[in-house]
Amino acid sequence: MANAVNFFELNTGAKIPSVGLGTWQAEPGLVGAAVAAAVKIGYRHIDCAQIYRNEKEIGMVLKKLFEDGVVKREELFITSKLWCSDHAPEDVSEALDRTLKDLQLDYVDLYLIHWPARFKKGSIGFGPENFLELDLPSTWKAMEELYDSGKARAIGVSNFSSKKLGDLLQVARVPPAVNQVECHPSWQQSKLREFCKSKGVHLTGYSPLGSPGTTWLKSDVLKHPILNMVAQKLGKTAAQVALRWGLQMGHSVLPKSTHEEWIKENFDVFAWSIPDELFAKFSEIEQARLIRGNTFIHEIPGAYKTVEELWDGEI
Ligand code: A2P
Repeated sequence: MANAVNFFELNTGAKIPSVGLGTWQAEPGLVGAAVAAAVKIGYRHIDCAQIYRNEKEIGMVLKKLFEDGVVKREELFITSKLWCSDHAPEDVSEALDRTLKDLQLDYVDLYLIHWPARFKKGSIGFGPENFLELDLPSTWKAMEELYDSGKARAIGVSNFSSKKLGDLLQVARVPPAVNQVECHPSWQQSKLREFCKSKGVHLTGYSPLGSPGTTWLKSDVLKHPILNMVAQKLGKTAAQVALRWGLQMGHSVLPKSTHEEWIKENFDVFAWSIPDELFAKFSEIEQARLIRGNTFIHEIPGAYKTVEELWDGEI
């Protein structure tokens, strides 16, 4: 019998469903149907962000799902994220209000600082002219106020290295509940995983399939021979094995799809498990970060000068 990994517990006491639907690059016109299909299949966790520019469509679908009695608000776990142009403390609450309006919700279950980078208010794009000096302690204070208000039932970060997370923990009154980062068999985040565990911060893996549809990434994660050997032995797909590996490692996963068959396939990861001798094979997979954050690198104050600096050497 497979271990029950339907949820993980956050440091707030809340339970985060271990598989959530990713909505990054989920096209308008398709994302709504994907969310509806996912919820009907049994997903209870939807990962959103203001910058994905599809929260309005998701909100309309959520409203209909509640009205039709398919699911209740309290059964869902909804995450959203603060974009870099809303880091000024006075803009944080307004940004969440915008997201709540678009999603047609009174609260989110989790609100994350999307990236450790700050842009000018209202700016669009990653051009060097948009960058400002980061002040995470003051942004985090505003996040804590959202937590106090109940509009964000948990707060956390995304794309934080161990160092940046450690620095934040030094000044936080409310410790981050989650660090959402790239994580899949070809980028296992060993160092960050240990650090998060030691501090009680839950790790959520984005791009858990290695984002195979992202043309600018050249991702081969699902093609890896070890993943495919395990998949063949277990009679599962490489995608299912990648996701199940994540659950057995102890982190939640956010596979994105707008195809119902794949949405279904990606949720069929609970009634079976990867046996120890096959699980051990994953440690042989060579490691490489896919999403390097090159758009945050500029030779100007406020921006990171190198990819090493952005990730504090965790590359
Ligand atoms: P699509 O969105 O066209 O349905 P990730 O979650 O790692 O970012 O990966 C998302 C990409 O993987 C999307 O291009 C998605 O396609 C594709 N995808 C999602 N589920 C599967 C699956 N089970 N098998 C193969 N590709 C998948």
